[in-house]
Amino acid sequence: MEISLLSGALGAEVKGINLKDSSDDNWQQINKLMLEHKVLFFRDQDISSEEQINLAKKFGPLEKHVYVKGLKNYPEIVRIIKGPEEKHQWGETWHTDVSYSSKPTKVIILRSRKIPPVGGDTMFSNMEIAYETLDEDIKKKIEGKKAIHTSLGAAAFVDKYEEMEANGNLVEYTNEHPIVRTHPETNKKILYVNSMYTKKIIDMEKEESDRILDKIFQHQERLDFTCRFKWTENAVAIWDNRSTQHQGLTDFFPGRGLGFERIMDRIAIEGDHPQ
Ligand code: SIN
Repeated sequence: MEISLLSGALGAEVKGINLKDSSDDNWQQINKLMLEHKVLFFRDQDISSEEQINLAKKFGPLEKHVYVKGLKNYPEIVRIIKGPEEKHQWGETWHTDVSYSSKPTKVIILRSRKIPPVGGDTMFSNMEIAYETLDEDIKKKIEGKKAIHTSLGAAAFVDKYEEMEANGNLVEYTNEHPIVRTHPETNKKILYVNSMYTKKIIDMEKEESDRILDKIFQHQERLDFTCRFKWTENAVAIWDNRSTQHQGLTDFFPGRGLGFERIMDRIAIEGDHPQ
């Protein structure tokens, strides 16, 4: 096995592991590496939908997206499609998947099917380091506090994206989570708010809550907490959604990144109640 670190903050590209193999031994090795590096990347893994599902199931029960239709034969797989002339793509600003749920996603397995020659890299950011390096005054202010996370409604997941189809659910979800959660497997502290879904700190005046959240969101965007993956076809990313944020870059500009399709298959694994 060969492991190359993507940045000083997180992320590793792994060679010598076959993702078609969903045996206990293979999964344990993958899980251990994922906990260590937070996001793993594998190239040239031409796995089938069944193989992607089998591997995902090793991490726990699969989660269907609350708003977006999955594939007809594999409802657990959301096919993220950006049409050639689209300038937006799904997941295009920093976020933690589904933090508005009472049990937000544990792990994501994202597999590339079609990739533009340039553009559409995915960035990841390490929220353990974000907590460690947070200003001490802010750490005191948020100690023991929770924040409200709100789903943005079905429209936010489909309206801007020509190829993404809603499943008809119109319920909006709101849940409270600790601002600093403890990772259930590593016991490390994680800064668990994100600018996409976190709206307010509970038991704090709105003005102060806005001010503190803005500062935290700016801090979370520091590039030195990040790594960036340039996709190739049949590549797979497996990430710990509890301790990271991510965004799909929308650098689809005329004469360069625009004019190409981008297709990814996403499977999410159910998480626990953040503590
Ligand atoms: C996502 O936000 O889950 C998708 C990211 C990507 O397609 O790069």
